[in-house]
Amino acid sequence: MTPSTQPMRSRITGNLPPEVSSLVGRERDVLAVESLLENQRLVSLTGPGGVGKTRLALRTAREAAGSFPGGVWFIELATLRDGTHLARHVAEVLNSGNALNTLPIRLARCLGGARAS
Ligand SMILES: Nc1ncnc2c1ncn2[C@@H]1O[C@H](COP(=O)(O)OP(=O)(O)O)[C@@H](O)[C@H]1O
Ligand SMILES: [Mg+2]
Repeated sequence: MTPSTQPMRSRITGNLPPEVSSLVGRERDVLAVESLLENQRLVSLTGPGGVGKTRLALRTAREAAGSFPGGVWFIELATLRDGTHLARHVAEVLNSGNALNTLPIRLARCLGGARAS
C-alpha cells in the first residue's frame, strides 16, 4: 500500500472503524453536522433504522478529527442493555487504564484535555 492510499484512520487518534465501502452522497449533511459540532457539545442524529445515521456520524467524525486533538472515539451502545453500565462501558472503550481510580475520575482524565466543541 502506498502512502497516498493508506487509510486516514492511521492519522486519527481514537478508534474509528475503517470505512470499508464508499459513502454515497451526504456531502452537505457532513458539512452540516461538522458545523453543529463547532458550537455544540452534543449533536444527535435521529431517524429510522438503516437510514445512515451511524455512517454519517462516522464520516463526520473522520472529517472533524483535526479539530479534536484529544481524539475521536466510536462507542457502540446498541448492545448495552443496562444503563448503569454506561460509564464503565465508555471507560473501557477509552481504555483509560488505572483501575484504582473511580470511573468518573478515569473518564475525566481521558476527556479533560480534549476539545469538547
Ligand atoms: N450514504 C451512504 N453511502 C453508502 N452506504 C450507506 C450510506 N448510508 C448508509 N449506508 C449503509 O447502509 C447501512 C445502514 O446504515 P447505518 O448508518 O448503520 O444506519 P443507521 O445508523 O441509521 O441505522 C450500512 O451498511 C451503511 O454502511
Ligand atoms: Mg446506527
